[in-house]
Amino acid sequence: MDLTTEIRPETAADRQGIRELLTAAFDGSKEADLVDALRDDGALAVSLTADQGGAIIGYIAASRIRIKGERGTTTALALAPVAVHPEHQRLGTGAGLIRTGLNRARVAGFELVVVVGHADYYPRFGFKSARACGIYCPFEVPDSAWMLVELETGSASHHGGTVEYHPAFSKV
Ligand SMILES: CC(C)(COP(=O)(O)OP(=O)(O)OC[C@H]1O[C@@H](n2cnc3c(N)ncnc32)[C@H](O)[C@@H]1OP(=O)(O)O)[C@@H](O)C(=O)NCCC(=O)NCCS
Repeated sequence: MDLTTEIRPETAADRQGIRELLTAAFDGSKEADLVDALRDDGALAVSLTADQGGAIIGYIAASRIRIKGERGTTTALALAPVAVHPEHQRLGTGAGLIRTGLNRARVAGFELVVVVGHADYYPRFGFKSARACGIYCPFEVPDSAWMLVELETGSASHHGGTVEYHPAFSKV
């Protein structure tokens, strides 16, 4: 990521730029629609853009989830989506967005973040098997892609159970 790229919270003026970025990075507009639905419902706890001279080249969002288990219900976060424009990938922007996003989540008091993502990518940020920690995905997903990171050491062992995503995820 070069020095002209700034990672900053999204503003109201970014809505269209984020849609365009997400549509370029993914196949179709489902992720863009998901972000709009989460934002409109106030479900985004983290929402950052990678801004290069006013152009949005990357984006990360994290929304509130519930983990329902025998010991009760906990609020945590789901990281989704993470995207970097195809012309700007493999330059560290994704890593910058993820590290900054996790740091913001920690500062906001969240203890756990789950992700469905590439098993070769997320472990470098501290993600590990969520299933092995007793935290389960509500839909079918390969075990290797279902990961979590503990923002507070040992938090996963206190919060076992099944994740409940925002209803907007059922349309993705
Ligand atoms: C995944 C993504 C956000 C990474 O952003 P990025 O800025 O390119 O990532 P970084 O520069 O920080 O890291 C690059 C590393 O990411 C890894 N990586 C990127 N895409 C990957 C993929 N699809 N699978 C596995 N690893 C991947 C590679 O190991 C790469 O390392 P290399 O440079 O040694 O080859 C970006 O490729 C993207 O937007 N992809 C399309 C949308 C997507 O799949 N989002 C993730 C949903 S979980």
